[in-house]
Order: sequence, then structure tokens, then C-alpha cells
Amino acid sequence: MNFITNANEAIHGKSGVITISTGWLHADHNYLKNVICEEHLDEGDYVYLEVSDNGCGMDKKTIQKIFDPFFTTKFTGRGLGMSALHGIIRGHRGAIKIYSELGRGTTFKILLPASKHANASRYTDVKHEYNAWESGGGIALVVDDEEMIREMAGAMLRDMGFDILEAENGLEAVKLYPKHADNIRFVLLDMSMPKMDGEETFRELRKLNPKVCVILSSGYNEQEATQRFNGKGLAGFVQKPYLPDTLQETVKKSLE
Ligand SMILES: Nc1ncnc2c1ncn2[C@@H]1O[C@H](COP(=O)(O)OP(=O)(O)OP(=O)(O)O)[C@@H](O)[C@H]1O
Ligand SMILES: [Mg+2]
Repeated sequence: MNFITNANEAIHGKSGVITISTGWLHADHNYLKNVICEEHLDEGDYVYLEVSDNGCGMDKKTIQKIFDPFFTTKFTGRGLGMSALHGIIRGHRGAIKIYSELGRGTTFKILLPASKHANASRYTDVKHEYNAWESGGGIALVVDDEEMIREMAGAMLRDMGFDILEAENGLEAVKLYPKHADNIRFVLLDMSMPKMDGEETFRELRKLNPKVCVILSSGYNEQEATQRFNGKGLAGFVQKPYLPDTLQETVKKSLE
């Protein structure tokens, strides 16, 4: 996100082009000589994310400082985006390559070591297991004010064999619930939403069905997010952002 924001700010009001690409590459010793990284990186397979813009570009001095916390050349900049990004990449034992020319544009390429295990097939295995276990089907009601989250959670749950209903806030969820109560297996409920937040929605749903199965989902950690629900019969918790198999494990446990 910060890459795109920076690219946009580098173009600064003019019309320009931002290109985003992803891919896989084999990095040999020579290639790895020209990347910025914290420690020695092994020759091998890497996946990359590349963001290019044809904005203002950077001089050598700026390039040297972009990862310093609070370094910014912008009037309202905080200078934290790149330093945070640097930390994330370091945490994954990855590297960054920067090409930039003043007045012409910039390309950032992030390299992350490619996993030797095929993740896609791992997920397929889990999915298969789950479908066999979950033959009852039914509806998952996904309540979240962010459309993208509803879509992603919906896709994951659909893969597990559920039908999906979506609500973009608690008020909508509480209206929708009684119409499908017999078929709703569980509710995946976001914590912070406008109109009616997770806590109030949970209370209202319990009035409609004291046994309602609710899985809370939040960016806060479990302890912070669930302390207000203690002893009130929450079926499960999943911390955002989650992967399909984490969500799947939580759903399984909650329905048991
Ligand atoms: N695509 C780019 N083109 C030109 N300069 C860039 C680009 N990306 C980063 N920079 C330079 O690096 C500096 C640091 O970037 P960083 O994202 O850390 O902070 P910021 O964008 O200034 O503030 P914020 O914390 O809001 O992201 C920028 O101020 C800018 O000078
Ligand atoms: Mg920035």
C-alpha cells in the first residue's frame, strides 16, 4: 500500500503510470550482490513484487535515507512507510532492489524467499478433508463493513461448502438473521463497524437465538477483542488477517 501511495505522490498531480507486477525468479550470487538486505541471502528461488512509477524519481542521497525512520521529503509525510516496510521484509528474510532516476521514475522490487512447499496443494488437501467432514452445508452469515473482507471470507467459506449471506453492518445482520435462522450455521462477525458494532450485534443475535453460533473476527488479538464477551457464549475467534486454513480450523472447532 505504501508503495502505491508513494508512487502516486511521486507523480504528484500530473498524469502518470504506476505498474504493479508479481512473479518468480531464480536469484544467483551476482543478482543478489545488488540488493539491499539485512543478512547474507542464499542463491535460490524468490517471489517478487515490483512497483514502478514514472514520477519524480530520487537522487542517490535520498535513496540512501529512505529506510530511516522519520526520513521524508514531503510536507505532510511522516517518513514511516518505508521503514515499516523494511522491517517487514527483514522479518521474512527478503531483500529490496531499487532503481531510480531523478525526473524519470522509480522501481521498487521486493524479493521474498519462495516456499519449497506448494501451498496451493496443502490448501486443497485441507479443503478435501473439510468437505468430507462438513456434509451438512448451510449458510455462513458474514458481517463486515469492508466489502473486500466480506468477499474474501465469503470465497474461503464457499470453498468449505457453505452458502454465504453478507451483511455490511450489525443492523443489516440482525434484520437478515430471522429470515434464514433455520439454515444459518454460524455468523462470522466483525468487531468494529458503523451503525451497530460487533458487541451490540452479538447481543441482538442472542435475543433472536440464544444458541446462535458466533465467530468474532478482529484485527485486535484474541484477548483484547474477546474480553467484553467473556462468559457470554462466543463460539470462536479469528484474528485478521487470516489464512483459509486458520479460518477453517476456527469454523470446525466452533461448530463442534
Ligand atoms: N516512488 C517514489 N518516488 C520518489 N521518492 C520516493 C518514492 N518512494 C519513496 N520515496 C522517498 O522516500 C521518502 C520516504 O518514504 P516513506 O514512505 O518512508 O515516507 P513518506 O511517504 O514521506 O511518509 P509516510 O510515512 O506517510 O509514508 C519519501 O519522502 C520520498 O522522498
Ligand atoms: Mg509513504
